[in-house]
Amino acid sequence: MPDLNPSPDWPGSADFSGRLRPALLNWFDAHARELPWRLVDGGGQRDPYRVWVSEILLQQTQVARGRVYFEHLTEQFPDVRALAAAPLEAVLKAWEGCGYYARARNLHKAAKIMAATGMPDTYAGWLALPGVGPYTAAAISSLAYGEARAVNDGNVRRVLSRLFAEVQPDERWVQARADALLDSQRPGDWNEALMDLGAMICTPRTPHCPACPLASSCAALKSGDPAAYPAAKKRSPVKVVQAVALLIGDAQTAYLEQRVGALLGGLYGLPTEIKEGQAGEGALDRLLTRLEAHSPRLLGSVSHSMTHRQITLEVYAAESALPGEAVGKRPLSRLDHKALALLGGQDRLL
Ligand code: ADE
Repeated sequence: MPDLNPSPDWPGSADFSGRLRPALLNWFDAHARELPWRLVDGGGQRDPYRVWVSEILLQQTQVARGRVYFEHLTEQFPDVRALAAAPLEAVLKAWEGCGYYARARNLHKAAKIMAATGMPDTYAGWLALPGVGPYTAAAISSLAYGEARAVNDGNVRRVLSRLFAEVQPDERWVQARADALLDSQRPGDWNEALMDLGAMICTPRTPHCPACPLASSCAALKSGDPAAYPAAKKRSPVKVVQAVALLIGDAQTAYLEQRVGALLGGLYGLPTEIKEGQAGEGALDRLLTRLEAHSPRLLGSVSHSMTHRQITLEVYAAESALPGEAVGKRPLSRLDHKALALLGGQDRLL
């Protein structure tokens, strides 16, 4: 006969989640991080626009850096109408240096849709918008509307992996555990409590277990080596890209081209050619021919990492009749700012 009345310490038992929820929520009530997108109005509600902007930023940006961009974006575009009415270039300029620019392009696209059709107030409605996946839809619908949706991000994965001593949790496992544990009375607080626990206590390398409100329920702590959970994921290989860029003008006024493609599309930058083949010869000549430029002089090299790519750019100054424009007015990637800084002009985003 199977045991139909398992121990209260069994992670699937109602007792287990019944103890866990108040322990974590009480800790969160006392220790939650004060973050600008967590402000509530007089009725205790959050502004869904601010929640959305913050969640898009935090998809691939750390909280400390995301905060700076959040203040900057919401000051410049205080609501969805302002964002929708702005030219894409102005949104990219506000996003300049934050990376993963598809987020900014999708933010703008989604703002235009919302300005025309209204802002959704359900998980399914948010999921239908560009740039919003299951994680972001769960975050927005739980934080801004109190919908019972569990988020599953890196912090949540680490906390749950340790709580249940699951060394290689896959997406489905994490989502199922997160769904089962979610506090349906306070889903937004529960989600952010897991995020904060992961960011402040249950940290990747040296978790602060003595301060953890879930320590008595943590199977990884019982194992004696909580930091061993979860096992490190295999990193996808980094592609090395070598390119040549031409600076016609100076660090303030230069000839710029608008970039196309998934990575930096919509941003501006120095004219660039990828070096092909072993020796990479020909890229500089192609650039000089294309821009009718001459007298190249090597300024130096800069490197930058972007989405599984390590890009090294050799930057040459050259002469051409092409017109320069005010560099500061255009959205540029950090790689281009680094290239321009070779001339001695410093930039706040480096
Ligand atoms: N990371 C993603 N969303 C977050 C939030 N709402 N608070 C803190 N960190 C987060």
